[in-house]
Amino acid sequence: MKLKIAVLPGDGIGPEVTKQSVKVLKAIAERFDHDFEFEEAVVGAIAIDRTGDPLPYDTLELCKESDAVLFGAIGHPKYDNHPNAKTRPEQGLLRLRKELGLFANIRPVKAYNNLLEHSPLRPERIAGADLVIYRELTGGIYFGDKSTSEDGLTATDVCTYNVSEIERIAHLAFKAAEQRSKKLTLVDKANVLETSRLWRKTVTKLAEDYPDLELDFLFVDNAAMQMVINPKQFDVILTENMFGDILSDEASVIGGSIGLLASASTGLENALFEPIHGSFPQATGKGIANPVASILSAAMLLDHFNLTTEAKVVRKAVEESIALNICTQDINKNNHYSTEKVGDFLEGRISETENYQINDRNLNIGQMTII
Ligand code: IPM
Ligand code: MG
Repeated sequence: MKLKIAVLPGDGIGPEVTKQSVKVLKAIAERFDHDFEFEEAVVGAIAIDRTGDPLPYDTLELCKESDAVLFGAIGHPKYDNHPNAKTRPEQGLLRLRKELGLFANIRPVKAYNNLLEHSPLRPERIAGADLVIYRELTGGIYFGDKSTSEDGLTATDVCTYNVSEIERIAHLAFKAAEQRSKKLTLVDKANVLETSRLWRKTVTKLAEDYPDLELDFLFVDNAAMQMVINPKQFDVILTENMFGDILSDEASVIGGSIGLLASASTGLENALFEPIHGSFPQATGKGIANPVASILSAAMLLDHFNLTTEAKVVRKAVEESIALNICTQDINKNNHYSTEKVGDFLEGRISETENYQINDRNLNIGQMTII
């Protein structure tokens, strides 16, 4: 398959982790005889430094003409404590989502058996948890009218949704549930918010088209509690933009490290793949960032183009690296494999030049071997 992939490494650890996922995608292209072409562009704080705009025209054009976007991270501390800054790196990502029409943000979360002890949640609560959040990404309070009164004492963010915005993502979530354990939970705040009542009405009506599925509802405050008490009850969660943002960060603790969580953002014509972690400025350039979230985002990219065998090969390599403890220090506290070394190992497994077999002997010596 021929694919043009726009690579937007962005800020902080974005470039280091994205480099590893490009490496992995090149190894896949080589092994399966695909033609992947990569082209880089700036976004976020680095783009503001260079051009004054967090999403320069050339970057947006490149994304529009590409089949997919591989995104790193954006954000820089110099903007975080300046609420008055007119231009912010995050605007680049938000505009990109809107301009590319990426209305569905898909965030899978699962507990890896080898990492249960890494989660702050009790192992017996999270063992077997495997869920996916379908977060609406181009509507709601993120994109409604915003204003501050002239005296600066009152600020307003409007939350708006219409039926078609709800329907298009709900269809995707229902279809995902059909492929999984046939259960969909709509998370809302229908006891308070008018927009949530529209979500409930619209999704309930749509559920008639999916008679085999079980649909239930949860208020977001309760969902936040259930996520840590009993995450195994969830399969597919469907929710609006802001609730999805918050719940997906919360759910990330199930996996043991936010450095493992990937995401896909899809629309009708474009698709973007990014780790859910941020730019992690404190770690920039130290070689300690976990590249797995970016690499699993690349696996989601492969799945998106129906390259399912290829995606499986990537995921299997990741599972092997975790089983062998070939992990960065967020997971492997005692022996620090660098971002690059983890990427090298995965690249080697995918190209089959790295002859690791998982067996007891390797598990025991795994920490010493591939430095
Ligand atoms: C995310 C991030 C973004 C969001 C920020 C960087 C604007 O937190 O992708 O979850 O709020 O959507
Ligand atoms: Mg977020």
